[in-house]
Amino acid sequence: MKAMVADGPGGPEVLRLEDMGKQGHGRGELLVRVVACGLNPVDYKIRQGYFSQGRAYPAIYGFDVCGEVEAAGMGAAFAPGDEVYYYADLTKQGAYAEYHVVDSAIVDYKPENLTPVEAASLPLAGVTAIQALFGKARLQPMERILIVGAAGGVGSLATQIAAWRGAQVIGVCSGPNMEYVRRLGAEQVVDYTSANLAEEISRITRGEGVHVALDLIGGESFANCVECLGQEGRLVFLNAFSNWEKRLMETMNKARPKNLAIFCEMAKNSGEDMRMLSFLARKGFVKPQVKQVIELIETPEAHRRLETMHGRGKIVIDMSKG
Ligand SMILES: NC(=O)c1ccc[n+]([C@@H]2O[C@H](COP(=O)([O-])OP(=O)(O)OC[C@H]3O[C@@H](n4cnc5c(N)ncnc54)[C@H](OP(=O)(O)O)[C@@H]3O)[C@@H](O)[C@H]2O)c1
Repeated sequence: MKAMVADGPGGPEVLRLEDMGKQGHGRGELLVRVVACGLNPVDYKIRQGYFSQGRAYPAIYGFDVCGEVEAAGMGAAFAPGDEVYYYADLTKQGAYAEYHVVDSAIVDYKPENLTPVEAASLPLAGVTAIQALFGKARLQPMERILIVGAAGGVGSLATQIAAWRGAQVIGVCSGPNMEYVRRLGAEQVVDYTSANLAEEISRITRGEGVHVALDLIGGESFANCVECLGQEGRLVFLNAFSNWEKRLMETMNKARPKNLAIFCEMAKNSGEDMRMLSFLARKGFVKPQVKQVIELIETPEAHRRLETMHGRGKIVIDMSKG
């Protein structure tokens, strides 16, 4: 099968096309013919060497998959011909390839109203948003939620899902994305490039602060979220930051008097959360945000674009192209 592989950690240039054998599948597993594969920041992070302990090379990345079941192992809950989509296990081989093997427990049927490309744009970001909003923050209707990074892959879905839940969403993004974030369901939008976030949130909330903050950026944004939260607020933090020890201590000292609950999240593969995502997509409460459809060969260039950490919408590989 054709696959985009890497022989070791490094820059986008380590990615290269290779012809290799299909993986075998076992009990409870599916061999999936990949139709579309969505890209996420974690793809380039793993390519750079994070989460790479014990990874087998040549490695294949790409963990958002939509495809057709080619063969099903004993006990698998799907059959050949089923159209499925899923967020794949980050510790195993990914799906920048014509075929992929997956544990059927983390898979769901592709919603009929979505194209394979649209479906492949949703799982990782959608499952992350669901686990952050409901599993960690326990977001309630009428609560105020601050989403920092609202124009990105996770933020655009978190904004839609929180608005569906009946929360008041305040999205944070750069000026050119403000109208986009408003259309996704944010009641207020703040431009992080020009506003003082804490002052703006204090004005919007009449000094009460937000109940929940979702920080997709890290670093200074984490400190800003602590400032923006009200008493007993909940903060879910999804990104790493480096060289920040002193600032982190200062921030935690500000968090203590507010009695904040701070959660670090690493999204888990989950068939149950995939089914909730499917429900939201079928009903139109969550709409896929695809920015660009590419061929497999264009993956290294797409990694370069992703690494800028700006822009909106997802990049998806269409395996039928090229
Ligand atoms: N822990 C987990 O389980 C988990 C799961 C999924 C994702 N993540 C991480 O979460 C981060 C976001 O993922 P993603 O898929 O949403 O990324 P993405 O699609 O690349 O989105 C990046 C977004 O960040 C915005 N941005 C950049 N700097 C900002 C700032 N200072 N303040 C506010 N917004 C800013 C950009 O908006 P503008 O263009 O408007 O600047 C862009 O829309 C990544 O680091 C990813 O690895 C973690």
